[in-house]
Amino acid sequence: MEEVIKSGLQKKVRGEIKFNESLQKHTSFQVGGPAKVLIIPYDIQDLKEIILYLSQQKIPYIVIGNGTNLLVVDEGISGIVIKMVGTINHIDVDNNQIWAGAGALLPRVAKKAAEAGLSGLEFAAGLPATVGGATVMNAGVGNLNDMSQIINKVRVLTSEGEIKKLSWAQCNFAYRSSRFQSEDLIVLEVELELEAGDPNQIEAKMEELITKRKENQPLSIPNAGCIFKNPADDSAGRLIDEAGGKGMQIGGAKVSEKHANFIVNEQEATAQDILDLIARVRDLVRDKYGVELEREIRVLDNRR
Ligand code: EPU
Repeated sequence: MEEVIKSGLQKKVRGEIKFNESLQKHTSFQVGGPAKVLIIPYDIQDLKEIILYLSQQKIPYIVIGNGTNLLVVDEGISGIVIKMVGTINHIDVDNNQIWAGAGALLPRVAKKAAEAGLSGLEFAAGLPATVGGATVMNAGVGNLNDMSQIINKVRVLTSEGEIKKLSWAQCNFAYRSSRFQSEDLIVLEVELELEAGDPNQIEAKMEELITKRKENQPLSIPNAGCIFKNPADDSAGRLIDEAGGKGMQIGGAKVSEKHANFIVNEQEATAQDILDLIARVRDLVRDKYGVELEREIRVLDNRR
């Protein structure tokens, strides 16, 4: 496969292609093995060429954003990983709407919205995600605010290299879920529909939420955000905490003492340490409360 990429795709691509690239530096957990091939497309046209080529050659690929909600397995990824950060990252404000590229970082989009006096993205100011990743995951804060509330349209690329515009209803958004998690569609850009507001108030709200996160979450140690989804009308963090899960440790992975729904990579954890710890926390909460916690973070492996 590496040879096919070197002899075929490399000549056509204007973006970057890296071989046997460690994914530890491309994910916030900083664990896991390398990607056989990592591609960072130059622009939408480049990505289209790449996808057409890979589909024709029947070479599987995985798309990632900022890698902040991901756990890469220790053996790494034997196929292609396409990274959408620092590329396709335009942010265009037009009245109450913002078109943002999949590779744009959400805090940058939130800042632009605040400057333009547009309200609705306050919750996203501190989320270290790309627009694409946050759309696929329907990222949000708590059970109330999420991307689906501000997304109007999504432009996607199909595996046949076709660009389509989907309405909100066609995205099948639900709590931390969308159709993009189960279908071969790459998010290219989204149209956000926001409301006019006072820039100072919007910025103050953003600051307040960022401060709250710093106080409650272990942001200075490698992590991947909340590990589990919140069960309906409850908080996974509270359940794990009350079940006595804080401080539980396997190898270099530890349930954070600051927020129990975070696992921190404290001492060069392996992905397996983290997966084992996730299973142990799930057992703990099931035994104590009969609640089955559902994983929120995405595990990147060679199964699909
Ligand atoms: N709590 C505990 N112990 C803990 C953690 C939380 O008792 O270890 C309690 C808190 O005191 C609070 C309640 O649980 O009464 C809820 O906690 P928090 O406000 O931290 O909210 P959360 O439901 O745990 C959600 C999101 C976070 C987001 C925060 C912002 C999910 C799964 N989690 O956490 O998102 O940053 O709200 O307040 O939706 C993420 O998605 O990666 C993520 C971190």
